[in-house]
Amino acid sequence: MQKFDIPYIALTERLRPIKNELLTAIEQVLDSGQFILGQELSRFEQEFASLVETDHAIGVANGSDSLFLILQALGIGKGDEVITTSQSFVATAAMINNVGAKPIFIDITDDLNMDLSKIEAAVTPRTKAIMPVHLAGRPVDMTALAEIADRHRLHIIEDAAQAVGARWRGRPVGTFGVANGFSFHPLKNLHAIGDGGMITTNDAELARYFRKARNHGLENRDQCDFWSFNSRLDEIQAAVLRVLLTHLASATERRRLLAKRYCEALKPYVTVPEEKEGELHVYHSFVVQADERDALQEHLSKNGVQALVHYPTPLHMQPVARDLGYDKSSFPVAFNASKRILSLPIYPELEDAQHARIVTLISEFYEGRSSCV
Ligand SMILES: Cc1ncc(COP(=O)(O)O)c(C=O)c1O
Repeated sequence: MQKFDIPYIALTERLRPIKNELLTAIEQVLDSGQFILGQELSRFEQEFASLVETDHAIGVANGSDSLFLILQALGIGKGDEVITTSQSFVATAAMINNVGAKPIFIDITDDLNMDLSKIEAAVTPRTKAIMPVHLAGRPVDMTALAEIADRHRLHIIEDAAQAVGARWRGRPVGTFGVANGFSFHPLKNLHAIGDGGMITTNDAELARYFRKARNHGLENRDQCDFWSFNSRLDEIQAAVLRVLLTHLASATERRRLLAKRYCEALKPYVTVPEEKEGELHVYHSFVVQADERDALQEHLSKNGVQALVHYPTPLHMQPVARDLGYDKSSFPVAFNASKRILSLPIYPELEDAQHARIVTLISEFYEGRSSCV
């Protein structure tokens, strides 16, 4: 496997300076003898709820389960449709499918988030919910989305897996839907050292349901109220997440600074994800749209910089979606974007000199090309 001078992600760099803090937190769990559903989880849930400004936060095993449990709690299943974006990680659509419902994709706009103007044409009598994805950490326009959802009496379920801390018009994502899902996968902007996820909601009854649903439907040790499964967030992950949560604000600030510098320097060469009014983007990823994307990626790679494509195949073009009846002309913006998008390294530990090197490589690439014409 190629070793990069500047890898796309540098998890060991992130954890090294806080290793002692993490080890202390883990040791406390070991000494407590309480490994599931203990005080680390309940404290992390309280801290996360206060970060997201929501009444309830319920830890679960991963982000996918958060979406599955929300869809199930709302009674969404066979014969129902859920409208979502054609540009996301597969889990968004998979969870809609896994509760028995049908994912209905819509196109995106240039900001790579769902094109809200396409929603109403996709609504049918079977539509039950809209699942927006705050892709790359950039918030969807939730004001406009809420108006559409209200008009058609549809639930909103936010897939906020990539967007801890993002805000729309000052309000955190994860508070707009009836219930919303987050992921703490190691590549997320707030992450565990394994898997983890969270559901946020302001609905006390739903919160009570989720607490049972993540734990086999158990009301208490001896009473099972409904069939469910195990989707608990364990104490070690919760303890680690609590430590990383204390570093989230500074990490986000650094990501935003790097993004601002990228935007200023790269604007002459590629389309940059500049914030629009009302958006507070947390830059989970920094995705540019570039002419000659593959050649640019190759140029970076040859010079020791790893850049990745999220995602090369829009959801409607995945082999698994074949039966849904879409083709590449269905969503032209998503299809064209998939050929142009490139995610550049943006983790908080990225050094200024490394950032400057990436900028230089990109400008050299395009300036070299223009002088050839
Ligand atoms: C947009 C989106 N939705 C859902 C998920 C699923 O989260 P997890 O991997 O924690 O199950 C992810 C990430 O993996 C994601 O990026």
